Amino acid sequence: MCGIVGYVGPRDARDVVLEGLRRLEYRGYDSAGIAVLADGELSAEKKAGKLANLEKVLAERPLPEAGTGIGHTRWATHGGPTDRNAHPHLSADGTVAVIHNGIIENFAPLRSECEAGGVEFRSETDTEVAAHLLAATYRETPEGPGRLAEAMRRVCRRLEGAFTLVASHADEPDTLVAARRSSPLVVGVGDGEYFLGSDVAAFIAHTREARELGQDQVVEIDRTRGLTVTTFDGAPVEPVAYTVDWDAAAAEKGGYDWFMLKEIAEQPRAIADTLLGRLGEQGQLVLDEVRLSDQDLRDVDKVFVVACGTAYHAGLIAKYAIEHWTRIPVEVELASEFRYRDPVLDRSTLVVVISQSGETMDTLMALRHAKDQKARVLAICNANGSTIPRESDAVLYTHAGPEVAVASTKGFLTQLVACYLVGLFLAQVRGIKYADEVGSVVDQLRRLPEAVEQVLGGMDAVRELARSLAGEGTILFLGRHVGFPVALEGALKLKELAYIHAEGFAAGELKHGSIAVIDQGTPVICIAPARLSPLHGKVVSNIQEVRARGARTIVIAEEGDEDVVPYADHLVRVPPTPTLLSPVVTTVPLQVFACEVADTRGYDVDQPRNLAKSVTVE
Ligand code: F6R
Repeated sequence: MCGIVGYVGPRDARDVVLEGLRRLEYRGYDSAGIAVLADGELSAEKKAGKLANLEKVLAERPLPEAGTGIGHTRWATHGGPTDRNAHPHLSADGTVAVIHNGIIENFAPLRSECEAGGVEFRSETDTEVAAHLLAATYRETPEGPGRLAEAMRRVCRRLEGAFTLVASHADEPDTLVAARRSSPLVVGVGDGEYFLGSDVAAFIAHTREARELGQDQVVEIDRTRGLTVTTFDGAPVEPVAYTVDWDAAAAEKGGYDWFMLKEIAEQPRAIADTLLGRLGEQGQLVLDEVRLSDQDLRDVDKVFVVACGTAYHAGLIAKYAIEHWTRIPVEVELASEFRYRDPVLDRSTLVVVISQSGETMDTLMALRHAKDQKARVLAICNANGSTIPRESDAVLYTHAGPEVAVASTKGFLTQLVACYLVGLFLAQVRGIKYADEVGSVVDQLRRLPEAVEQVLGGMDAVRELARSLAGEGTILFLGRHVGFPVALEGALKLKELAYIHAEGFAAGELKHGSIAVIDQGTPVICIAPARLSPLHGKVVSNIQEVRARGARTIVIAEEGDEDVVPYADHLVRVPPTPTLLSPVVTTVPLQVFACEVADTRGYDVDQPRNLAKSVTVE
């Protein structure tokens, strides 16, 4: 949430910052703004709405060429999405420009303090206090190299909440200073130039060399002094260096109309990459990155899976697989709920946190809550260098590559695959499954990329169906066992992209009340289990029940399943896949469906209203 870009170097900062903002716009699109520092003076432009609005203003009123600049794309928290509330915010004396991601929780007393000192606020944001405080603190900080960084440290020690701040000062033309607490920030290192970004997409077109920053750290990037990192107390820190394993092309649309379409199409490759190097010659799993000892894993007596949104749905599916393969009890919980209750955890609890971005604040807080109680935390994450894997005891990276569309697709399927790997690995280490049993599931996993490819090959009918249903007010989803979370995921995708009322139901639960909402012609998308599943007959009955009440049924069923034919107004075929792995294939038509409905309704598929990717506020 909120995209942050900073640049210091020989190029034109205006271009670098705007390009970074284009790549980070998925993090928020309520407003965008830029400030550059040229000839000892800060100049800024900011505009409500998408980045295109700002670009229009800049075309009419260009900012001066400069070697230092910052930019921001906003997902509004304090204060509505207006020009005035857009970032950057300048101090009253015009010496400091600040951009911010997060929430400064004690902004009210700090604002009163500034107002008592005669400052007039120009916005309703919490961020503006940081600009005024920084300008005042800078004046009180002794002159010399690192003065802005010292002022930032002093200010940060007074701030509560979660924040990434980046500041530029008119007296320091070659310097930017940034601070982070519980919000994302990475540094890019080029040849005589430095970049700051909420994530590496901000600077991937220029460099793949990055530095991770820890909690409560301040970084100074300076054209001559280079990169300096300290804690909020001023203790020097050596940042962790890493090389980004994807390039700028991976973050482009590559000929697709929407990033989401491209990311859906990339799923076979993403699944294959997530499996790569993790399957040993003898069928055994090799998860070298899971830095928990075999003994730790053998001691696990309970698993919690904690996540938000789509990642939570991956967790719901993981429960079926992990319990089935390991016989360890698994609880799945929304991170925002887990964090504020008293879950029963101890050293032998394994908490699996799932997060594509690795920055979701609810999940991060849940992780810390788990660690406070001595539980072991294993992260399943896509973004290298992000906060959640860094704070976890162990990590299993999905290798989906950058996910730019706000709605998660390849992130979800690769999370599922990673969950399967975790379940099987636990079973393997604990000796619950023989090597040949693990090997046979591993073989099934290896077939998933091809199965997904096959599903993608047959999506024309789904797109046509989506166009015909795009005018509906309500669409329901039905599933049982692992099909239930798939139904929840299908409904979430449709809600977030097409703004249609959609709900996912457990097929067997419908008759306990919700079936009353079914009316003549209500579209109900039903996920039929594998033909050989003991639940198949039950779900066929549930489909009949809704059809008898007038529902128009769209049934997703495996090839060869003839039992569903009489009860399906529309049939979507998927290749037969073992029950526990079937969500990997049955989810795909639902992604395509939601994307096409939204497109038909004329909505921005990649940037749905009210949303942003990477939700870094609680
Ligand atoms: C929905 C979606 C969100 C995310 C959720 C968690 O399509 O993308 O529900 O799944 O915000 O995000 P991560 O996985 O980054 O923690």
